[in-house]
Amino acid sequence: MSAASNAPSSAIPRACVIGWPVAHSRSPLIHGFWLRAYGIEGAYDRQAVEPGALETFLRAMPERGYVGANATVPHKEALLALAAEASEAARAIGAANTLWFENGRPHVTNTDAYGFMTHLARTAPGWDARDAPALVLGAGGAARAIVYGLLEAGVEEVRLVNRTLARAEALARDFGPRVRVHTWAERERALAGCTLLVNTTTLGMTGAPPLEIALDALAPEAVVADIVYVPLETPLLAAARRAGHRPVDGLGMLLHQAVPGFERWFGVRPEVTEALRARVVADIEAGESRGAGESDGAEA
Ligand SMILES: NC(=O)c1ccc[n+]([C@@H]2O[C@H](COP(=O)([O-])OP(=O)(O)OC[C@H]3O[C@@H](n4cnc5c(N)ncnc54)[C@H](OP(=O)(O)O)[C@@H]3O)[C@@H](O)[C@H]2O)c1
Repeated sequence: MSAASNAPSSAIPRACVIGWPVAHSRSPLIHGFWLRAYGIEGAYDRQAVEPGALETFLRAMPERGYVGANATVPHKEALLALAAEASEAARAIGAANTLWFENGRPHVTNTDAYGFMTHLARTAPGWDARDAPALVLGAGGAARAIVYGLLEAGVEEVRLVNRTLARAEALARDFGPRVRVHTWAERERALAGCTLLVNTTTLGMTGAPPLEIALDALAPEAVVADIVYVPLETPLLAAARRAGHRPVDGLGMLLHQAVPGFERWFGVRPEVTEALRARVVADIEAGESRGAGESDGAEA
């Protein structure tokens, strides 16, 4: 992968996160950390772009020195629709979170599945996608990325559980017969035989209702992942740890999803280090003491 090269040659490469609202995005913190760590002359800022104004903003980006961007709520679907080229991941997930320009044309991908699967592989080495079914709770935008990542990794059966059954059924239709829908009431029974549980709902997030699910039917060696990362250890992850399951937190996904964009824009593949993690943890803890909840979700 090479750095995007359509910025005016005199200007430093700039990227940004586009959202509405965008003030609470942690992407500037992550990319700013890497720019300093690698001594790169570049910039990453926030751009509040109203729904409906994305196309105009995109068109003006190259001449403003932008080599690319992250997109967050509510722009991820619209960005995919406006792109000249989209990766297979973005098309399958139905949303894009990473943009770069090639010869002035907007190219997009979705790095959420990459972020989740990379963090899972690092945190739970030995977990093998082919071993057993995985259960995914939720059928929103993040669930689409997780289901895509799991299927790509070779999971034979994804059990999908969502409060609104029709939304899970729609997701299953898009992803094919390896995704099997169970009702919300069946969620605990559906855990039997699974070696991975992933919460992609907002339940358990600071300020949201708790996620109610007993883990008794889950195999002892199973991995429990929560993509909610405020609090860092959600009640689900705490219960999993107490029961001897391997917990996988949501922060690692957030950090790893940022890697491919940074490499595209600034030409260096950055490392997700303990120092970066500590910096973002400090920010989350400071936000929690102010009473702030999770940031802007799917890319944050
Ligand atoms: N770690 C990361 O990098 C990362 C990345 C992406 C997202 N996230 C987090 O993942 C979460 C979901 O994001 P999203 O973009 O997928 O949101 P979304 O599209 O709004 O989906 C929300 C999901 O939560 C479910 N839900 C909400 N309230 C519920 C309740 N009271 N009972 C049961 N289910 C409920 C919804 O079910 P219904 O369909 O029934 O409404 C839906 O499945 C957010 O907390 C977000 O911050 C983290």
